[in-house]
Amino acid sequence: MNSKIIIACVLMNLLLVLRPAMSAAPSCDAVITSFAPCLSYLKNVGYVPSTSCCDNIKVLDQRLPEKQDRKSVCQCIKLAIPIIGTVNNTRVQDVSNSCGSNLYEIPPISPDMNCDNVV
Ligand SMILES: *[C@@H]1O[C@H](CO)[C@@H](O)[C@H](O)[C@H]1NC(C)=O
Repeated sequence: MNSKIIIACVLMNLLLVLRPAMSAAPSCDAVITSFAPCLSYLKNVGYVPSTSCCDNIKVLDQRLPEKQDRKSVCQCIKLAIPIIGTVNNTRVQDVSNSCGSNLYEIPPISPDMNCDNVV
């Protein structure tokens, strides 16, 4: 099966599931959309994050000067885990390095990730 189609399906489900939570975290929508092009890399497809993944992460990063905002991004990702499924956390850590310096580090993604530890 075409992995692009699978990922598109996953994302559509993701947006539907997260919709009720969006009022509490207004940026959730944008966060998930930003991560969309990164999902294939995070799921061990290919060897480097795509350009659109890096571009999105950089933009997202610039919008998160406040710790509270980074926390809510973490919470968005945590909510999305049941749909995203398992990701390669080596690659999660690697995305900021691969995409450029001075980026906000994404904490390891797991169902019990503690968003209070976001720095
Ligand atoms: C996770 O990604 C790293 C870096 O690409 C790779 O070396 C490693 O084999 C991957 N781990 C798994 C469990 O697929």
